[in-house]
Amino acid sequence: MADKPTKGLADVVAASTALSDIDGKAGLLFYRGYDIHDLAGRTTFEETAHLLQHGTLPNRDQLADYGAELVRGRALGSLVEQNVVEIAEKQEPMEALRTLLSLTSADDPDKDSNAADANLRKAARLTALQPILVARFHAARRGVEAPEPDPDKSIAANFLRQITGKEPTPREVEIFDECLVLHADHTMNASTFAARVCAATLSDMHSAVVAAIGTLKGPLHGGANEQVMRTLEMIDPAGVADAVRAKLAGGEKIMGFGHRVYKTEDPRATHLRRLSEELGEASGDDTYYRMSKEMEEVVFAEKGLYPNVDFYAATVYHFLGIPTDLFTPVFSVSRMAGWTAHVIEQHADNRLIRPDSEYIGAREQKWVHIDER
Ligand code: COA
Repeated sequence: MADKPTKGLADVVAASTALSDIDGKAGLLFYRGYDIHDLAGRTTFEETAHLLQHGTLPNRDQLADYGAELVRGRALGSLVEQNVVEIAEKQEPMEALRTLLSLTSADDPDKDSNAADANLRKAARLTALQPILVARFHAARRGVEAPEPDPDKSIAANFLRQITGKEPTPREVEIFDECLVLHADHTMNASTFAARVCAATLSDMHSAVVAAIGTLKGPLHGGANEQVMRTLEMIDPAGVADAVRAKLAGGEKIMGFGHRVYKTEDPRATHLRRLSEELGEASGDDTYYRMSKEMEEVVFAEKGLYPNVDFYAATVYHFLGIPTDLFTPVFSVSRMAGWTAHVIEQHADNRLIRPDSEYIGAREQKWVHIDER
């Protein structure tokens, strides 16, 4: 007879990892021992992805090699090219990404190998591919050609230009790059756990990442950033406090608040709040930033809840000109670095992940023939 389950696996330690660590009481996050406050704004997304996947912050030569690998990894493959227009017509962004990413395995020369070197190559390719898939999807649904990515530019610079159709300013690129760094990994979050469960069956990296994308899609996880923006858009700027109190009184959750692990401010929210304020001021209309600040104060006063990573990410992406329905895809662009690193880690020291369950159904049922039911 199994023990009582811990609902939602709260506080259950489900894996060992050397990738990231959270101190939920102190509000600290580390990637491979580096404090996120030291990395954010000082380390690029490419360096961060290398740190997670290869284990070290790269030196200049290593970064050049990894950067070249990322550029080579951008080729989409024939199945994506043949199907992207129809997929973009019929599927929502996260649905489409789940499909498109899955199609890319067909052309991956390492698709049948879970060996460490093959996994590292796939991790780089998938990290390179995800932003291109989002950009190609976005272009296809508007019936335009996506601008070609510039091999000399970063993932952040190329993505912003491909999505907005405008050359971003150097500061916009820095800010978006910082967002990608902040979202790259986060211990045993739901999508990473999904990826590890899949990988632990000795399934391949593409399958694990597809499971992760499907898991990130949900509004309690990655989908929250989009919901934050939709809430801000619906609320009257003069009635923020009333609107929040009415939602809480109606038993609604306020998206972008609360966290399973952090019992204080999410350290990523500290950076995103600052970036949202900067971009709001630069845009000449910081209404959404000011509304967010007010929401934060009201939610804290009413429920004692802090904003999580999704709350200020929403207005940062909005001010950067990213369409609201691409906010969760942007999360996946960044988290691909972490997901793939977790698959590498899982395959390196694998055991099938197969927990137990508590049976709460009927017992001792008597079978009856179908004609007599
Ligand atoms: N708004 C209002 N109340 C909230 C809340 C929110 N965003 N988040 C948690 N609460 C309340 C719950 O209603 C519950 O109250 P109760 O004990 O009176 O029933 C309590 O806080 C615990 O919440 P619970 O959902 O059980 O916590 P959890 O650890 O299972 O969930 C989240 C964590 C992140 C899923 C949850 O805080 C949430 O749904 N947040 C909104 C979605 C979001 O922003 N997700 C992105 C996470 S990075």
